[in-house]
Order: sequence, then C-alpha cells, then structure tokens
Amino acid sequence: MADYTLHDPDGRTVARFPVLDATVGANSVDVRALLDTAGITTYDPGFSSTSSCNSAITFVDGDNGVLLYRGYSIDQLVEHSSFVEVAYLLLFGELPTPAQLQSFTHDVTYHSMLHEQLSSFYRGFRRDAHPMAVLLGVVGALSAFYPDSIDVFDPRQRLVSIERLIAKMPTITAMAYKYTIGQPFVYPRNDLDYCSNFLHMMFSVPAEPYEPSKILSKAMNALLIVQADHEQNASTSTVRTVGSSRANPFACVAAGISSLWGPIHGGANEAVVNMLQELGSKANLPDAIRRAKDKNDPFRLMGFGHRVYKSYDPRAKVMRRIYEELLEELDLGNDPLFELAKELERLALEDDYFVQRKLYPNVDFYSGLIMKAIGIPINMFTAIFALSRTVGWLSHWKEMIEDPDQRITRPRQLYVGPAQRPYADIAHRSVNGSPAKLPAGPAMPGEKSIVGG
Ligand code: SDX
Repeated sequence: MADYTLHDPDGRTVARFPVLDATVGANSVDVRALLDTAGITTYDPGFSSTSSCNSAITFVDGDNGVLLYRGYSIDQLVEHSSFVEVAYLLLFGELPTPAQLQSFTHDVTYHSMLHEQLSSFYRGFRRDAHPMAVLLGVVGALSAFYPDSIDVFDPRQRLVSIERLIAKMPTITAMAYKYTIGQPFVYPRNDLDYCSNFLHMMFSVPAEPYEPSKILSKAMNALLIVQADHEQNASTSTVRTVGSSRANPFACVAAGISSLWGPIHGGANEAVVNMLQELGSKANLPDAIRRAKDKNDPFRLMGFGHRVYKSYDPRAKVMRRIYEELLEELDLGNDPLFELAKELERLALEDDYFVQRKLYPNVDFYSGLIMKAIGIPINMFTAIFALSRTVGWLSHWKEMIEDPDQRITRPRQLYVGPAQRPYADIAHRSVNGSPAKLPAGPAMPGEKSIVGG
C-alpha cells in the first residue's frame, strides 16, 4: 500500500510514512519517524486509533462480533478444546499435537503446588480482604520464592515461569477463597484436569469426599477459554508495558491483576451481578435505562458497551448459551436474575441511546451468572477472570520479549503546563494569583497578618 504523506499547514510535504499491512483488520501507518522528521507527535489518549505493537495472538473484529485466537473462532474453541489446549495455542501459536498437549499438561499439573511458606502470606490479610488484593499480594511475591526462573533473557526460564504461573493461579485463587471463608486450604490433585482441580480446591473440604461435577467443569472450561485473551486491552497493555522494562513475569502478571481489578474492566462481572441484584425486579428496569442515559447520573449499565465491539460481543453469546445449558442441566429452572438480565438486554437493545452508540452486552454481562450458578461468590468473579487472563497476559509478554522490534514503553505527551518561569520566593507566593487565604490567626510577632481577621 502507498505511503501516507504529511503536509504542513502551507501544503508543503513534510514527511512520508509507510503503511504496515495487517493480515486482517486495519493496517497501520508507521509513525515512528514522525517526531524526528516533523517535530510533532500524535495525540490519542486511550489509544483508540493507535497500534502499540504488532501481534499474532488474538484478533477482534468489533464490527462483526468476531473473536479469533491464533485464527480459530472462540465458539469453535469452546466447543472442541480444553482451556489448557487453548493456553498452548495462545502461547505457541498452534493447537498442540497429542504428544505436545500431554507434555504441556504434565508440566502444568506438576507445577500446581505452591511453596508451603506462601500459605502464611494469606494469614497477613484480614478475612474480609477482597480476593483481588490477596491475588495481587501473593502473585507479586512469587519472584521471591522462584528466583531460579526470573531471568527474562533465558528462554528456558521464561517457559518455566509461564508454566508456574498458569499452574499456580488456580491454587492461589482457590486459597484466596478458602481464606475468606475460614476453611482449610486444599492441595491440588494431579489426577484431575485443570478445571476439575480448580473446583476441587475451591469446594472440597477434608471432612468428606468431593468429586467435581462434570457439568460444572465443562462450564468453567468455557468460562476460562472465553476470558483468556482479548488483544491489547487495558490489563494486557499494562503487562506489556511493565514487561518492556524487562521486569520479571511474576511482577508483570501482578500489574495485570491490578489493572483488571478496575470496575470498568475486569471488575465489571462483579458489578453486573451487584447491579442486577440491586435492581431486583423488571419494574425497576426502565428507570435504570433512564439513569444510564443521564449524563448527570454516574450510573452506567455494567456489562454493556465496549471499546472495540460495536456489535454483540461473541463471548457474551457463548456465555449466554452456556448459562442456559447450565440452568437446564442443573435443573435450576428460571433464575430470576437471568430473566432480569435478558429483559434488561431486550430493553437496552430497543433503546435509541444504546443502538446509536452500539452498546451491546459484553463478556461480563453473563459471565457472572455462570459463576454464581457454579457456586462462586460474587467477590471472586474478577479473580476467576484474572486466573483465565493470566494465559493471555503471558502470551503477550512472551511475544513482546521475543520481538526484536520491541523497546521500552515510553510514550511522549502533549505538554500543557507552564513554560519556564523564574523561581518564586515563598514571601511572594499566592494561590492561583490571589493572596493566599490562610486561616485567620494571630500574626507572628513583627509580622502583619496576611488575611483573615
Ligand atoms: C472488559 O478492552 C477489552 O477488550 C476489555 C475486555 C477484555 O476482554 O479485556 O473486553 C473486558 O473490560 C469489558 C468491558 C467491561 N466494562 C463494563 O461493562 C463497564 C460498562 N462499560 C463502560 O464503562 C464502557 O462501555 C467501556 C469502558 C467498556 C468502554 O468505554 P469507552 O470505549 O471509553 O466508551 P465511552 O465511555 O467513550 O462510551 C461511548 C459512549 C459515551 O456516551 P457519549 O459521551 O457518546 O454520549 O457510550 C456511553 C458513554 O457515556 N456508554 C454507556 C455505557 N458504556 C458507554 N452509557 C451507559 N452505560 C454503559 N455501559
């Protein structure tokens, strides 16, 4: 494709910029030389029109509601693959052969135990600590317990850290849950698959035998696959930025956990169920829609809208189907929250405000309902999202470290602060140019009182 040419306000050609071709989706104008050749920068807070990197991992077609992991559509992967298989695909680029899957599964299984001393970390938290605070603390500490795999320039150590994190996140997450409910930690079992093992660590107690339900494991598998990766979302971009300074992968994933925790990112699944519970009945839905449209009201329909999807989030479609199957298989009948969610979706998708802004249900709208049906408490929803997204974060971290083009992330800025000015002696300072409004009080001996009385 032909270069893009930049002209100055007088129409003179300032510079030409090559176009980088995408496999599918938007191409990119390579503006790396812009500042040096034209003395200007681009301005794009939120990076709505900016490619921060090149990546071969995930592609989102926001207009048509398509999500591809290494070219495979998300619904096909949910239908046919295990989460560990999808993790292999995201990390290494191809679906594994039986031998590759067996070897990767073995490695992940045999890294699932946590250093025993880490269990005392949990006891430093209050029992009512949010599980994301616990995850953040424990994952951030992992490099202190596994210093033999933090050299990011050593491919073997990179792989060991990746396998350790994927293997230990379910253990760490389940321990965070057990701690909040005062039950003993449950060790992983090597005879169980990834999702069944997680449910075992979450719900079994020493007092009686526990066999994870195949139905719940299947729902958990779908949930983890759907949430595993999503291009350069806020938390993945955070992991790439932290990793660009060559910080160790444990620190990078801890940074990803921090970003995902935000209520308009990964924290939305928790917010959706809280919102539905607060709304309570269909009679309250029209007012909720009204409030969501009112710019003076901070209320937003959680689980709706997306920076990239301007059509139905394919993950919401999958989640809704999985949830309906779960309701049937568990014979849960009509879940009032699900009925409320479907009615809220119907009302919103008939309302011009949402239609014009292309605000559809996103991944978080139905995921919370699935987790609730599995028996996971609301405050654990984002932690489960982090468990799943750890695979995406590590896939992008690995891709970035291996990319010869990648440099430390250091954006420029549009500076709008004061130009250089002479130092202001304290005797002549004022608050925004007006005399400082100090509380009235007795002037020091020999000093005029500045203001006040
Ligand atoms: C995730 O990036 C990813 O891929 C993220 C994610 C992933 O897998 O990593 O998909 C996971 O984070 C999903 C999103 C979960 N968050 C929520 O459900 C929170 C509710 N959604 C909104 O906060 C919002 O839609 C965002 C944050 C998701 C997107 O924000 P944008 O792209 O900055 O969009 P915007 O805020 O500029 O909204 C555009 C317009 C605005 O109105 P106008 O100024 O044009 O009049 O739509 C309105 C917004 O006020 N709007 C909403 C709304 N979302 C956007 N109005 C009411 N309810 C909403 N939910």
